[in-house]
Formats: sequence, C-alpha cells, structure tokens
Amino acid sequence: MPLDLDEGDGPPSFLDMITTAGYRAATAALRLGVFPALAEGSLPADELAARIDADPRGTALLADVLVACGYLTVDGERYANSPMAGKWLAGGDYARVERFWSTVLFDSWGELETSVRSGTACLDFYAWLAGRPETLERFQRMLSGHAEHIAPEVAGLVPVGETLLDLGGGHAAYPIRLCSANPALHATVVDRPEALNTAAVEEAGLAGRITLRPGDYDELDLGADFDTALLFNVVHGRTAAANRTLLRRVAAALRTGGAVVLLEHDEHPADPVDEAFTRVFSLNLFHGQGGQVYPTREIVDWLLAAGFGEPEVHPLESSPGQSVLIARMGGTR
Ligand SMILES: C[S@@+](CC[C@H](N)C(=O)[O-])C[C@H]1O[C@@H](n2cnc3c(N)ncnc32)[C@H](O)[C@@H]1O
Repeated sequence: MPLDLDEGDGPPSFLDMITTAGYRAATAALRLGVFPALAEGSLPADELAARIDADPRGTALLADVLVACGYLTVDGERYANSPMAGKWLAGGDYARVERFWSTVLFDSWGELETSVRSGTACLDFYAWLAGRPETLERFQRMLSGHAEHIAPEVAGLVPVGETLLDLGGGHAAYPIRLCSANPALHATVVDRPEALNTAAVEEAGLAGRITLRPGDYDELDLGADFDTALLFNVVHGRTAAANRTLLRRVAAALRTGGAVVLLEHDEHPADPVDEAFTRVFSLNLFHGQGGQVYPTREIVDWLLAAGFGEPEVHPLESSPGQSVLIARMGGTR
C-alpha cells in the first residue's frame, strides 16, 4: 500500500476513500501507459501527456494524485516512477495482474450489494469475461503464469496413469507438463471454447496426446475409466450444490482406484495480507459465480459423499496459502 496514513488522520472510511481513489487513479495510469512512459526517466507533465496521447492538464492532475499516493515522485516539474511503480507497474507480469484485478473491482463490483442481498451471484463472471477479450487474455495469462510457477511441485504430486481428465484446464499448462514427463500419458482438457489454448498444445508438440474439448463440464459426457481427474481452482467458482453434483460426475468418469486432484486456496492463510486478499477473493467469487473459498472440511465432505476416500492434503511450498487435495475413487490409496 503506497499511501502511509495513520489512524489519527480521520475516520477509517475516509482513508479507504482516499486509497481507493488513489488505486483508481493508478488504474487509469496503467490503462493510459503512464508507468511505461516514465520507465526511461522523468518527464514534465506536458511531455508525459504527449507520450501517452492525453490532455496535458488532465495528465498533470492525475500525476499529482499518483504522487500523493506514492506511485510517482516529482522533482520540480518532472514526474518519475517511484521505485515500487518502476519495479512492478512499468511492464511485465504483475502489471497484467493489476490490470485484471482493477477491471474486476471497478467494472464488475457495481452491483455487489445485490448479490449479498439476494444470496445469488448477480454477475455471470465467465460470460462477463467472454465479452472482454483483453481481460479474458489477461485472466488466462495470469492463470497460466501461476501454473508455470507451481507446476514443478504440483506435477510431482499428481498420480499419473495413462489417462488424465483436466476439467476447467483451458490453458493446458498442467497436461503439457505431465504429458511431456510421461510419454504414455494421454490427456483430455474440458473448458469453455474461448479458454482453450490450442496454440500452447501445438507448440509443445502434444496435439496427438492432448485433446481439447470445448464445452460445459456440467453438461458434457465426461467419459469413463480415467486414471486421474484434475479440478484445479474449479470448486471455489461454484455453489456447494453444483460441486456435489460435479464430484459425482467426476467419480463416474474415473476407474476404481483412480484419483481426483483438487487445487484450492486455504480458507485462512497465515499471512495477514494473504488473509485479507483471500476474503476479497472469496467475496468476488460469491458475486461473480456463486462460489467462495470453501473450508477444506466442506470439500472433504463432498468428496466422501461422491464415493471418494479421505483425501491427502498437501500445502504447496511454491504457493503458500494453496493446497493440493488427492482422493481416490473407491477409498483405496
Ligand atoms: C479459475 S480457472 C482455473 C484454470 C486452471 N484449472 C488453473 O488452475 O489454472 C477456471 C476455469 O474453468 C473454466 N470453466 C468455468 N466454468 C466452466 C464450465 N461450466 N465448463 C467448462 N469450463 C468451465 C473457465 O473457463 C476457466 O478456464
């Protein structure tokens, strides 16, 4: 948080109003390209405005908010990225993550209280995303970037046989890694058509062993006798009732002794910033998808009710606050 205000400065909601406005100004700066424009060095407001193709007075006023909130510094008339903005927001993966989250917060939370009042998601997140190709691309790149980061650890945990079903696995990062390491493995990825990354599978030379199936995993015939099914970051985006039904369908698609593997966020991570993010994430899931970050005990109850054995739970070292759950069909391990 760049702005350092102490509690004596006013009511907490006033401070939150200022930091929210500062974050909205930073979002405008991200969308306008302010931080990359200052990556080479400081600029006066009129030259900055010319670089980002914007109005000079508006740019100066925006830059002053960004200075007040710690995103920029000013020396005389020249504005520069703060070290934090230069490091994280002038380009690269984190700038993409911030653009995704700021769009979610400012463009999709407008009716948040309607969801809370009614108890039903008033936004259809994936339909909302499908109508925003740039945001969809940022979302999928964010997911695949995180998947690449944790895949070495996760792939070491996944029980591998000859067949793998990855539900909601659109970017295909996990099947690509698992099939590359296991020459006998064939994988099927089910996802919405706009999420399936055909190019990544072809680039990996795995089009013959990874089948991409566009469609709804609640509707499609999922097949039978799979050795392994992945449900990574899926159950938190659904209601409890929908998860119970899907887990029964997954159970029917596995052979006896086959494994379902879930990747989920821990309900209460140890780090206080992770805890605060998880609460925001959970509310966002409720508003957009009717889901939430579920307690592990509740997920275990769904698994047992679907015919799986008690799962092994593996907290991830490469992603503190996330765990992999592995449960076998028929209760054998
Ligand atoms: C949070 S992402 C997780 C992606 C990936 N499994 C991972 O962990 O990186 C959820 C994925 O489920 C897909 N999805 C959501 N609802 C779906 C549905 N009804 N049928 C098929 N795919 C769906 C989304 O398009 C998205 O790719």
